[in-house]
Amino acid sequence: MDNAKKLSEISWQDFNDLPLAEKGRYFRGQPQHTLIAQQFSRPQLEGLCTLATKIRRISKRREGANFLRTLLSDKRAMLYFAQPSSRTYLSFNSACQLLGLTTIDVRDSKTSSEVKGESPEDTIRTFSSYADMIIMRHPVGGFAERVAWMLSNTNRTIPVLNAGSGADQHPTQALLDIYTLARSFEEIGGIDGKSVAFVGDLARGRTVRSLAWLLTLYNDVKVYFVAPEQLQIGEDVLELLDAAGMEYEVTSDFASVMPKADALYMTRIQDEWDADGESTTIDTSSFSINAEHMDVLKETAIIMHPLPRRKEISTDVDNDPRAMYWRQMRNGMWARAALILSTFGREDEVDTFYADNELE
Ligand code: NCD
Repeated sequence: MDNAKKLSEISWQDFNDLPLAEKGRYFRGQPQHTLIAQQFSRPQLEGLCTLATKIRRISKRREGANFLRTLLSDKRAMLYFAQPSSRTYLSFNSACQLLGLTTIDVRDSKTSSEVKGESPEDTIRTFSSYADMIIMRHPVGGFAERVAWMLSNTNRTIPVLNAGSGADQHPTQALLDIYTLARSFEEIGGIDGKSVAFVGDLARGRTVRSLAWLLTLYNDVKVYFVAPEQLQIGEDVLELLDAAGMEYEVTSDFASVMPKADALYMTRIQDEWDADGESTTIDTSSFSINAEHMDVLKETAIIMHPLPRRKEISTDVDNDPRAMYWRQMRNGMWARAALILSTFGREDEVDTFYADNELE
């Protein structure tokens, strides 16, 4: 990409002080890291969505699945998950299998030499010796960026994919959410002009922070942030949306938003970030939906959730055709496969196979 900058040419301190949009320019060169939502452009998102669909269709037939498994059979991926994960881990792992990558993993830092006093940086450098890509989830915000910066100063500068960092970023979840929105609204004009309501713990949910930014790349999207006051979206996110000229409303009145939304993005209370059980004192009962609310929603509306859910979506909603969270989860596998393939620059082979086999 023409405006890419080199991570090896900036000190960590100077890099760390940059605004998010400026940071994004450092992840677009080679290797292509995926670390923050602010690095994506709309054409890139659209390209990844198209690629995800091609991979999905090709994989349906045996010869297609066999072809996909050759694409990255010379590559190994390290899955380093220092925080709990089901969907993100399994979908990344499945995406790797689809493309023939071999995976190695550490899912608990207690099983790595960090317990012997090794620094996290040395641990990662060790991982990089055995892998061609690091897919990592870490409780410390910005740690994946630090890893990418650190590797840029070694002779094994392999790509780093952020699978969730602290309470700040979850760029690949935002990517699969965009894929889900684009697929769901394909027949009704796409994402442009739609209203998206984020509901629940918006203060600490990293998926919301990343997706809200990606929506600024579309035209005339309106966002509602629906939460109890104590769990409302951070000012830093609103400032970014203001700068991007996005229309939004901050409210605690879920009932008034329900009939207006084209997508409801439900989230759970992130009480693992509580200092002292404070979220147990907040009444969150009105930030949930059940079958009785379904009549109020638009016919074409979709209900999303990054999962895991608690009480914010009643199970009696699960079989409504507008409940999109199961498909959203599966979309994660396709979107992540597309991202991994394009990180290694091999997407052209999929285009050729797709055209040659007349899958259009
Ligand atoms: C989310 C996460 O880990 O941020 N889960 C996910 O990746 N699908 C949301 C959550 O934990 O609530």
